[in-house]
Amino acid sequence: MVTPDSAAWEPEHEEDSMPTPEIMPETAQLFAAEVLAGLTKPGQKELPSKYLYDEIGSKLFEVISALPEYGLTRADERLLRLNAHSVAEELPGRVVIAELGSGSGKKTRSILKAFSRRGPTFYHPIEISATALAMCEHELSDMDSVSIVGFEREYLEGLREVAARRKRGEKILVLFLGSTIGNFDPPADVEFLQKVQGILKGGDALLLGTDLEKPMGQLIAAYDDLLGVTAAFNLNLLARLNRDLDADFTLSQFKHLARFNPETRSIEMHLKSTRAQTVSLDGGRVKVDFQDGETIWTESSRKFSFADLSRMAETSGFKSVGQWVDHEWPFAENLWIVK
Ligand SMILES: C[S@@+](CC[C@H](N)C(=O)[O-])C[C@H]1O[C@@H](n2cnc3c(N)ncnc32)[C@H](O)[C@@H]1O
Repeated sequence: MVTPDSAAWEPEHEEDSMPTPEIMPETAQLFAAEVLAGLTKPGQKELPSKYLYDEIGSKLFEVISALPEYGLTRADERLLRLNAHSVAEELPGRVVIAELGSGSGKKTRSILKAFSRRGPTFYHPIEISATALAMCEHELSDMDSVSIVGFEREYLEGLREVAARRKRGEKILVLFLGSTIGNFDPPADVEFLQKVQGILKGGDALLLGTDLEKPMGQLIAAYDDLLGVTAAFNLNLLARLNRDLDADFTLSQFKHLARFNPETRSIEMHLKSTRAQTVSLDGGRVKVDFQDGETIWTESSRKFSFADLSRMAETSGFKSVGQWVDHEWPFAENLWIVK
């Protein structure tokens, strides 16, 4: 049971719970409201996965990308390296590149290289994480023919800003790599893609990285690695609530859990309470009870079939014009054009 005095969780407490520099005031309020809603929801408690990416979370995600168990990033990177020119050939003319949730931007280099052969290229990473955005800007800063203007924004808000700056005759290529679309549970994935499509114009494109179905053991290992980096990434969310929302989670009393949900074909990450306990947030103004074994659902990573991908393109108003598949770690890069 929860005793949220939500009226008490208002900006009047700004002084005693100053947001970290990473969070702007209005987003800090949204953060508090969404955390409160997720932890006090009847039934399964949950926290939005976007909050995994504070400074420590963004750095831990970079380490996850290099782990032997997590073949996803390497597959995505291989496909981009081998096929960036084919992507560029499909999109003649002047193209502005916007990337949703760029992370460190390392993999994006091949795409930017392919487009910058034609001339100066504009690149807009859109990131909720100031740390990831800074890593991305630093990572690609040596590309002389690429102008980088990043937006520390939520995906759609950032994309709207990029679209509003479009000059006559320019096309937009949206990159959404790393299978981040798998973090949206259906039907939110298609609803999100429809919104992206709605911001774009006919002839604009989306390059969508999608992790494909694979054996469950391989998936569990990828999200529960032997070094415990993914566990640290997940638990850092509670540490973040302690830091930024004046909560008192005892980290050793929660365990990282990765499990496969066969109905949704997703790997779910949870944080499991190892005992019955009460946690407080906002300096004790909000209390959340946990039963022994109860979990907080922190992320889903859905795995796609080719049929899913065709259906998603069709229902979100795109036409598929290219698909490249990695067979070492089943993963597909999909190039869709707005109809
Ligand atoms: C799974 S990581 C992928 C990073 C990179 N694209 C890759 O493929 O390695 C997701 C990235 O999206 C960012 N992100 C998550 N939710 C977001 C949102 N709602 N708006 C903007 N960025 C978001 C995170 O900060 C993180 O860097």
